[in-house]
Amino acid sequence: MYTKNSEEHGTCRDGSFDSVNPAYEEKQLNNEVTPKTFDEKQDKRSSSTSRPTSSEKGVATIIFSLKNEVGGLVRALRLFQEKHVNLVHIESRKSKRRNSDFEIFVGCDTDHEQLKELTQLLRTHTDGVEITPFENSTLPDDGRPADMAGVPWFPKKISDLDQSSNRVLMYGSELDADHPGFKDNMYRTRRKYFADLALGYKLGDPILRIDFTTEEVQTWGVVFRELHKLYPSHACKEHLKNLPLLTKYCNYSEDNIPQLEDISHFLKERSGFIIRPVAGYLSPRDFLAGLAFRVFHCTQYVRHSSDPLYTPEPDTCHELLGHVPLLAEPSFAQFSQEIGLASLGASDDAVQKLATCYFFTVEFGLCKQDGRLRAYGAGLLSSISELQHALSGKAHILPFDPAVTCNQECIITTFQDVYFVSESFEDAKNKMREFAKTIWRPFTVRYDPYTQSVDIVKDTTTINSMVKDIRHELDIVEDALNRLNKQL
Ligand SMILES: [Fe+2]
Repeated sequence: MYTKNSEEHGTCRDGSFDSVNPAYEEKQLNNEVTPKTFDEKQDKRSSSTSRPTSSEKGVATIIFSLKNEVGGLVRALRLFQEKHVNLVHIESRKSKRRNSDFEIFVGCDTDHEQLKELTQLLRTHTDGVEITPFENSTLPDDGRPADMAGVPWFPKKISDLDQSSNRVLMYGSELDADHPGFKDNMYRTRRKYFADLALGYKLGDPILRIDFTTEEVQTWGVVFRELHKLYPSHACKEHLKNLPLLTKYCNYSEDNIPQLEDISHFLKERSGFIIRPVAGYLSPRDFLAGLAFRVFHCTQYVRHSSDPLYTPEPDTCHELLGHVPLLAEPSFAQFSQEIGLASLGASDDAVQKLATCYFFTVEFGLCKQDGRLRAYGAGLLSSISELQHALSGKAHILPFDPAVTCNQECIITTFQDVYFVSESFEDAKNKMREFAKTIWRPFTVRYDPYTQSVDIVKDTTTINSMVKDIRHELDIVEDALNRLNKQL
């Protein structure tokens, strides 16, 4: 169980980052059949095998459990092959919910008939099966050009996030045995309430206003009060600048937990970001994809009241005090979106590297301001102990360099071995942009803010269209300069 002693020894994971955890997934992606290899096989097979033609197609997610025995995963995956079901995503993790040794999370494009048959087969051959049926009537990869074969599915428009935002790796209501709230049935019931809210959310829905309990507000209040003692001397100037605005427009205060709906509207006006509730950890790929569309997946529950300064997972204190003030900053928002755009359609290895860069910047990043080190990472800005440690003069600090940073180990149970410092968000963005160019993809992407979609740039037609847009922008610049000259 968690004790004060654990915090003193640096095992407080208050800074664990929300909704995505590269260290977690890295440990879990030790399948007998790697996702890439399996997908490659599926792609080759599907090219020679006719797909089901039912109109009721879509992406379904399936979670099943396996005993830890040699060949178990291969046998289970063969069931998909037998039913000609094309996998678009696969991950495994140690099972914490059942006695089985592993849980396998699979995303597949299929139709209702196939899904029904596959479910029956899996129930016969595995320990437990959960299905999240598809709701979209179209397959995301239907019509994909031949030269896009092998590219992992990624959302092309903001509404596509409805398909990926519920693919949580860790569940809001399923707490680990060592979670502070594990034995608290009321807390577990409350967590299920928040998880169900997030799982039922669709793009465009208003985010439900929560009637937080007195206990939740008190817990938030302790975190709010203690962190605000450190912010003037530890937080970056952008964080300090935006906190008063959040107080004014979103009712940030020690005795009130702000509502995500208000914050989403505030961010939309400031930087174009919006908030989307999420039930738990997403895979790095799904989380980073949200950033590409300026969507921030955000938890809404409050940590357990037994120790307000500790949480083993992200909660609304971490999101609202750590992330939101920075997301309101346009230069930071642009930096975040750059990482997200670079991840779309990238290989698993590339996504892992981008997620690691995200971890050491958006979560644990430092910057230089007025000759002093300041924190801008949300993991630091929501963790009293690690915020003090990172700026104590005793922490190991290196300049942010994506090529180096992407290989650093992410630590979620203790303080980081090293922190990375950026000259500015602009500098960090430029470095990420250059790094993204080294990631192989058969295309590049451009975000269209008018349609909230990504254009796949890989042919002269699209490039010509971009050139026209640039010429139009230059015309505006020229016109503005001419008017300025006439005034002089
Ligand atoms: Fe976070």
